[in-house]
Amino acid sequence: MMNWLDSHCHINDEAFRDDLDDVLNRMIEADVTKAMIISSYLDDYDFALRITKSGISFKHSLGVYPGDVNELDEELFEKYAFRMKEDDCDAIGEIGLDYHWDKENKERQKEVFERQLKLAQELGKPVIIHSRDAIQDTYDLMKQNPVKGVMHCYSDSAEMAKEFVKLGCYISIAGPVTWKNAREPLNVIRAVPVERLLIETDCPYLTPVPKRGLRNEPSYVVYTGKQIAEELGINEEDFKKQINENYHRLFGL
Ligand code: NI
Repeated sequence: MMNWLDSHCHINDEAFRDDLDDVLNRMIEADVTKAMIISSYLDDYDFALRITKSGISFKHSLGVYPGDVNELDEELFEKYAFRMKEDDCDAIGEIGLDYHWDKENKERQKEVFERQLKLAQELGKPVIIHSRDAIQDTYDLMKQNPVKGVMHCYSDSAEMAKEFVKLGCYISIAGPVTWKNAREPLNVIRAVPVERLLIETDCPYLTPVPKRGLRNEPSYVVYTGKQIAEELGINEEDFKKQINENYHRLFGL
């Protein structure tokens, strides 16, 4: 039997400090044996690098989050860049644009995003993209700075998803695809070639049904994965195999 995987989780978050071991044990029970841990801060990154569990293979991503660009100075950027260059950093992210929380600093967000895209190009590392209420600007910058990557927790239109696929991007689907009001996420999974799909929890947020209302965790990615396989009419084992192939094609072995 193929394993499940979580292509985007924050188990280095405070939300898991008290019971991380239980969370990791439930990953093993659910056969979620691969996970990409996303770090937005250097101390979270140090913590993430120390997380180990026999039977689980972790990858690591580091990036300046779009919501944090106001506090970023040159000295801090250099520290991020230094860590991104190291071998234990598998991906650059999550990086991108978020106009939902802050519309006043668009230019600064774009500048920091583009700089990290260029750095990823230079390092030959994939990017993990966060885009909220900013899909056109995200697209424009990615088109100008081609680098392989994934649109994490994709929540925009199926039409735009196809455009990102044309740029070479992967589309990662999170818990909302299982929610009762999920219509566009279902259109998205049908519009995107299955060899460009990924699944994720983005835990501790965006908990899938039937755990909605609880803290999210990597073992719950199974609910999202099963829902997508069912919607696409793909046998679960074949779907898992495909998702594993996609994950390794993007992030390496
Ligand atoms: Ni995230």
